[in-house]
Amino acid sequence: MLRSYKGITPTLEQGVYVDVSSVLVGDITIGRDSSIWPLVAARGDVNYIKIGERTNVQDGSVLHLTRASKMNPNGYPLIIGDDVTVGHKVMLHGCTLGNRILVGMGAIVMDNVTVEDDVIIGGGALIPPNKTLESGHLYVGSPAKKARPLNENELAFLKVSAQNYVQLKNEYLEECK
Ligand SMILES: CC(C)(COP(=O)(O)OP(=O)(O)OC[C@H]1O[C@@H](n2cnc3c(N)ncnc32)[C@H](O)[C@@H]1OP(=O)(O)O)[C@@H](O)C(=O)NCCC(=O)NCCS
Repeated sequence: MLRSYKGITPTLEQGVYVDVSSVLVGDITIGRDSSIWPLVAARGDVNYIKIGERTNVQDGSVLHLTRASKMNPNGYPLIIGDDVTVGHKVMLHGCTLGNRILVGMGAIVMDNVTVEDDVIIGGGALIPPNKTLESGHLYVGSPAKKARPLNENELAFLKVSAQNYVQLKNEYLEECK
């Protein structure tokens, strides 16, 4: 499931779990204790993907990026921080996500979007290009709008969700032995 592109193969740090049915190509780095679940497609071909620590990318999600061009000299890599939960069937394209974020099932996050730390994106949300989602808030809808500040339970849940997935991937890694 790990494929080279132009001589670059994905780099997995300690404790990373990648389901055998997922496909990771090229310039991808995945930090400690992160997990990639069934049928994820991630292509680090015309730019790079960097995923932080204890982050989970759930089933059927698609990760890609945008190449550099004259108009856009760095292109848009895909950068995901620590303790991020990417729900089922999410599309992340050329965007930057901070730490402790929940991306709800089926959400689409487009090029040059910045999601600050401690944000929840509701299921099915569409985040159009170039938007910044402000730390500590819930965003829902298509196109997504800021719905309200997150409460204390929701803020705490962001870390719990990531931790639950660290535990789950450890159990899956045990099964692989
Ligand atoms: C947005 C979310 C966090 C719930 O927020 P909430 O404030 O508790 O939602 P409520 O149930 O109180 O609903 C408030 C309103 O928002 C609406 N709403 C809830 N989720 C919504 C969503 N994803 N998109 C648009 N509207 C949504 C509700 O229908 C309700 O509308 P109403 O007031 O007209 O009846 C949740 O619905 C969600 O999308 N969670 C993502 C879960 C997920 O995908 N996890 C990853 C997989 S493990």
